[in-house]
Amino acid sequence: ARTYNITLLPGDGIGPEVVSVAKDVLDAAGSLNGITFNFEEMPVGGNALDLTGVPLPDETLSNAKKSDAVLLGAIGGYKWDNNEKHLKPETGLLQLRAGLGVFANLRPATVFPQLVDSSTLKKDVAEGVDLMVVRELTGGIYFGKPRGFDQDENGDEIGFNTEVYAGYEIDRIAHVAFETARKRRGKLCSVDKANVLEASMLWRKRVTKIASDYPDVELSHMYVDNAAMQLIRDPKQFDTIVTNNIFGDILSDEASMITGSIGMLPSASLGELGPGLFEPIHGSAPDIAGQDKANPLATVLSAAMLLRYGLGEEDAAKMIENAVLETLNKGFRTGDIFSSGMKLVGCEEMGEQVLRSIDSQKPAA
Ligand code: NAD
Ligand code: IPM
Ligand code: MN
Repeated sequence: ARTYNITLLPGDGIGPEVVSVAKDVLDAAGSLNGITFNFEEMPVGGNALDLTGVPLPDETLSNAKKSDAVLLGAIGGYKWDNNEKHLKPETGLLQLRAGLGVFANLRPATVFPQLVDSSTLKKDVAEGVDLMVVRELTGGIYFGKPRGFDQDENGDEIGFNTEVYAGYEIDRIAHVAFETARKRRGKLCSVDKANVLEASMLWRKRVTKIASDYPDVELSHMYVDNAAMQLIRDPKQFDTIVTNNIFGDILSDEASMITGSIGMLPSASLGELGPGLFEPIHGSAPDIAGQDKANPLATVLSAAMLLRYGLGEEDAAKMIENAVLETLNKGFRTGDIFSSGMKLVGCEEMGEQVLRSIDSQKPAA
């Protein structure tokens, strides 16, 4: 049997609720595929601040680094919203991504036929959408220097950040994006603001140059404001999208709504070496935390991505994805994806239904 060490980072808000479901799902799919997991749970975000005074304790990062893969719920909450920057839960998450060197964030948005009616878009617009946002995750305005607070010449206070990309950062995310597009439908749309921003002008130049290594991939460029509009107008025109850190953050939340709910979208964050980081794209949802209302499927699907991209365990990944589809087929819905005639369930019950579907895939003895 194969054994893997998984660092579990439940985080804050609904994080622990959805991670607990995903952990059971990993165990179940693992045991049917000859896989054993050693889970180690560590603090990050607000709970780490309360426990240790910092949002990413050294032990959490070192445990994550020596693991085979990291599964994260979400971080953040009202309690810590007014903390200074270095004491914000979000800072811990950014330190974790940087510490693991996971520069490539894959965020697939797939409209499941069962959920077409949960989309706020018309059926014929949403139906069949299957796109992948490749978001640069460890550069750009999130990390660029100079940044900070200061005073202007009138003595007014200012806050400032810098959007900066080095050529190598663009090249490596472009390679991931072209490889991703090549395995999909061979279309890559690079989204930038090259009509205004120097960092985007360099982005467009480097992505265009790398395109010559991938003659089988059709490259196009789009300004981000148009892309935001086109995603709603005709999302089926997109196959793979590559973009910078902040545009990718925004466009992936937008894309999630095409699929019915942000509670459905998983992600994989990968680097050149070392373990990948797997997390739903949603946050800690403080408005529904502790009420057993969260949709755990984004995290369950992130666990499937962990198996596929993090461990190369394709069979177990498929088993989880099939179980999610079967659970939806049976009509089980959390509140965020509920539509009339369906069975309204909570986070835990949704998890139990997924486990039941996994169990039914057990090969007959
Ligand atoms: P959010 O994604 O937490 O919530 C936005 C809305 O979507 C809320 O109404 C919430 O109830 C709903 N929602 C989110 N996930 C859901 C799920 N699984 N099931 C059902 N409904 C769900 O975004 P926000 O409210 O802007 O941020 C809340 C906190 O989360 C903030 O502190 C923010 O910084 C943090 N955050 C963390 C991450 C992360 O850990 N990766 C991502 C985004 C936001
Ligand atoms: C996400 C979140 C994070 C981001 C925040 C919480 C730092 O919105 O994972 O999408 O902006 O990357
Ligand atoms: Mn986000």
